[in-house]
Amino acid sequence: MLTKETNLFDLGGKVAVISGGTGVLGFEVARYLLRQGAKVALLARNPDKLRQKVGILSTESEQCIGIVTDITDRIAVAAAAAQIIQEWDVPDILINAAGGNIPGAVIQPHQSLFDLSLTDFESVVHLNLQGTVIPSLVFAEGMQQKKRGSIINFSSMSVTRAITRVAGYSAGKAGMENFTRWMACELALRYGDGIRVNAIAPGFFIGEQNRRLLVNPDGQLTDRGQLIIQHTPMSRFGRPEELNGAIHFLSSDASSFVTGTVIPIDGGFGAFSGV
Ligand SMILES: NC(=O)c1ccc[n+]([C@@H]2O[C@H](COP(=O)([O-])OP(=O)(O)OC[C@H]3O[C@@H](n4cnc5c(N)ncnc54)[C@H](O)[C@@H]3O)[C@@H](O)[C@H]2O)c1
Repeated sequence: MLTKETNLFDLGGKVAVISGGTGVLGFEVARYLLRQGAKVALLARNPDKLRQKVGILSTESEQCIGIVTDITDRIAVAAAAAQIIQEWDVPDILINAAGGNIPGAVIQPHQSLFDLSLTDFESVVHLNLQGTVIPSLVFAEGMQQKKRGSIINFSSMSVTRAITRVAGYSAGKAGMENFTRWMACELALRYGDGIRVNAIAPGFFIGEQNRRLLVNPDGQLTDRGQLIIQHTPMSRFGRPEELNGAIHFLSSDASSFVTGTVIPIDGGFGAFSGV
């Protein structure tokens, strides 16, 4: 029941897990959730990078741990979940931010359409689809017992708008968006209204993987970067901290009747016809 004191957005003491938490966007989300009083576990593959990022976050709050995990390895993810439960509790929030592209799954400018590497195509679909499916299944098991939890996936503009040359990544994210809706419905039908699954779809943010594609070493936009800005009514790239509002909303009780949705955070890219 709502009282005058109810803060729908309160995240104090919540346990959050962030895959890809050492990446540009995942790290920013981790910092934000720590500042909201949540406990945050980062899952990432590279131990050195993980140690470095957890070190930075520890200056914000002591409630941050890092666990070396490949999110496409179900056994490793289950071990990470067991460690988090032992340390704190079943997570309230799972943010599946790990993902990304593989150069071989992109048609390079000098290549023909028919040069596409099917092996790399499969790998990138695996990363972006299974890399969300596996942690979702593992962590939803605990959430199902508690009948509470919010899962937030990272989709992309490339699901609804064809982005030239980027074949495998787009297919992987499209499968993942479909899985978001499926998992949302299945969990609600079977376990009630306490567990929700949604996604955000960032537009274009400068990350580690796309920096070279969008910006030249001298700081000027590449041709592709310019095209994207022309197609973004707000005429700029997103800033990582601009994801935090939607992440906060979807993580908290403020979105208690929201499941199976995808929120674009794109400066108008998806809405614009280009004319
Ligand atoms: N940057 C953008 O413009 C943009 C736009 C739309 C969607 N996204 C999505 O947002 C998410 C974060 O993107 P970012 O820009 O921060 O990228 P990033 O490369 O900075 O971060 C991604 C992180 O995922 C990790 N990762 C990859 N495979 C992994 C695995 N198997 N196990 C564990 N960790 C793994 C990487 O090590 C990296 O730290 C990704 O899913 C990306 O596809 C990004």
